[in-house]
Amino acid sequence: MKGTTDHITAVTGGVNDLALINAKNDSKNWLSYGQNYSEDRFSQLTEITSENVGTLGLKWSYDLNSTRGVEATPVVVDGIMYVTAPWSIVHAIDTRTGKQLWTYDPKVPRETGVKACCDVVNRGVALYQGRVFVASLDGRLISIDAATGTKIWEQVTLDTSKSYTITGAPRVFKGKVIIGNGGAEYGVRGYITAYDAETGEQAWRWYSVPGNPDQPFEQPELEMAAETWDPSGKYWELGGGGTMWDAMAYDPELNLMYVGVGNGSPWNRRLRSPGGGDNLFLSSIVALDPDNGSYKWHYQGTPGDHWDYTATQPLILADLEIEGAKRKVIMQAPKNGFFFVIDRTNGEFISAQNFVDVNWASGYDEKGRPMEITAAEYKSGSYEAIPGPNGAHNWHSMSFNPTTGLVYIPAQGIPIVIEDDPNWVANSIESGAFASGTGWNTGVLSSATPKKSATFGHLLAWDPVKKEAAWKVEHASPWNGGTLSTAGNLVFQGTAEGRFVAYNASTGEKLWEVQVGTGVIAAPITYEVDGQQFVSIAAGWGGSHGMSTNYSEYQTQGRVYTFALNEKAPMPELKLREASSILSGVAYDPQDIGLGTKLYITHCVICHGVPVLGKGGNIPNLGFSTKAKIENLKTFVLTDALKELGMPNFSGKLTEDEVTKIQAFIQATADAVKAQMEASK
Ligand code: HEC
Repeated sequence: MKGTTDHITAVTGGVNDLALINAKNDSKNWLSYGQNYSEDRFSQLTEITSENVGTLGLKWSYDLNSTRGVEATPVVVDGIMYVTAPWSIVHAIDTRTGKQLWTYDPKVPRETGVKACCDVVNRGVALYQGRVFVASLDGRLISIDAATGTKIWEQVTLDTSKSYTITGAPRVFKGKVIIGNGGAEYGVRGYITAYDAETGEQAWRWYSVPGNPDQPFEQPELEMAAETWDPSGKYWELGGGGTMWDAMAYDPELNLMYVGVGNGSPWNRRLRSPGGGDNLFLSSIVALDPDNGSYKWHYQGTPGDHWDYTATQPLILADLEIEGAKRKVIMQAPKNGFFFVIDRTNGEFISAQNFVDVNWASGYDEKGRPMEITAAEYKSGSYEAIPGPNGAHNWHSMSFNPTTGLVYIPAQGIPIVIEDDPNWVANSIESGAFASGTGWNTGVLSSATPKKSATFGHLLAWDPVKKEAAWKVEHASPWNGGTLSTAGNLVFQGTAEGRFVAYNASTGEKLWEVQVGTGVIAAPITYEVDGQQFVSIAAGWGGSHGMSTNYSEYQTQGRVYTFALNEKAPMPELKLREASSILSGVAYDPQDIGLGTKLYITHCVICHGVPVLGKGGNIPNLGFSTKAKIENLKTFVLTDALKELGMPNFSGKLTEDEVTKIQAFIQATADAVKAQMEASK
């Protein structure tokens, strides 16, 4: 019977190299993160079409029992689904019934949360030969029996003394499980590691940036990379960054795997490499041999990254006809706002066109080098980076429909003002504080220069050959979900205010939508179960922008929803967020505000946002707390009271006196905003 241990063992056992290579032609299943090795997230299923999508209804929903960000793409084989929740918890679900088969909780120590810039999220698992592979936030790669949920092996992939974390989904190429890591806001050196799927033994490791020049280079190309860094900045002590925390793809014919490399650490290049230089392989797409991790080629989209312009965003492989010639390309729409088409056989630059407004480069020259705008160096004063560090497009998956020829991108603008941090000291990184790790005052301060550019989010249908938008749907806000496209001429996407929507893939016309009761950031999938096409989405608001901001009137309950034609199960009850009023009445000494501001920015702002100005995301905004809570701030800050929810215990890092100063900052900011609001009435 389907859904029994024997059935699961049999069908997951069949997910081998051949099945993964052929996944593109197997739309009944969704075998890996991006559907197939090209990661195009395109399904050939045609039961649900632009004609009948209006009759889509709920088949079942499944409670992920979470309130933090849900970024996972589920994988499915013969109706058996594996999806991850916050804190790297794996759920196995029988999609025929919507019932749980098992869960696996890697029991991530909750203090890991403070090392995670961007929420305690996880983007999903890899499936291979009867096993499920998950990478936990604290850096373990774990092999789990797909039928029973029992652990088979576990490997620590990180130097746990540093602020590394893992949020990405592993991929399996040729029997090796590949996983990167994150942490470039906190002074780490990026690398990616391959493990034998069967035994868990390490097969190879590839570093994206050079280490200490007094030591031998781990790989020959790091010698070339080191020439692009200024050693007077002691980049190896700062970590350098270049973490590879998300995108990968694989071309079995070329036997090349591709990985996107992240930003510099610290962000500020004048601190990282004072004499300039491209700082290879930051913000690059790199091709490696999956057998041994050896370097094949790279293309660097943002040489000398200065703005947190990671190139870890989704990579899609496709064959396109460009100027009359068939080209094997790799496509990316990274944070820096340009859409790249690169020859994936050799890394040759084909084109780069901005898909949103940008102010750091005027374009790319023929060789594929950006023409940087001098003002973007901002040697003095503040600067509004467009795109901002959340990117013109972040990790939110894009999809490519070979029939329309369009790439569907969750594009956005989240402006931010940055300026040199005069208080920056190299070893401040060790305190694990985000703002100091970047080398910038990141403009999240209410006092920073006001932002001039627009905040926006849209679903962008981009033509990679014509290098222009085919159509665009404006959303209410940025930070919308990833996309799925199908041969039914459909594009599916969830939105930040909590709708799950289907559009006509050719025109962008909205055809169907449902309210799912939380902002959506993850990407939907589709698959077939016993002859019926299902569409599933894991919903749950959060991620870097979502921790402190919310655009939905609903709570942040994590849930998997599955829809099919003519289904009519009732949607779960929608729960509104609690109404809150601005904090008032906490007594404080005005002299404490200055230091309180600094302490708050160093230790609290990354999760709680600026009091009152952020509405609060999946973590409460303290400007809307009750007087009693803020008067008793030390009971929250200096104890384990909320540890299980992910609130760090700052005892040993902050004194009671310092907490009093933070109280002063929170109340004073609330008072100031309230006064401003009243004055403008
Ligand atoms: C790593 C993220 C993180 C950081 C950094 C952090 N917090 Fe929290 N905080 C949380 C989470 C998660 C919760 C629990 C939210 C919930 O109720 O689910 C929380 C809860 C709280 C609460 C209780 C709020 C309520 O309404 O119940 C207070 C007060 C608080 N934090 C204060 C602080 C202060 C002050 C700082 C800085 C010294 C700080 N936090 C730093 C994550 C963080």
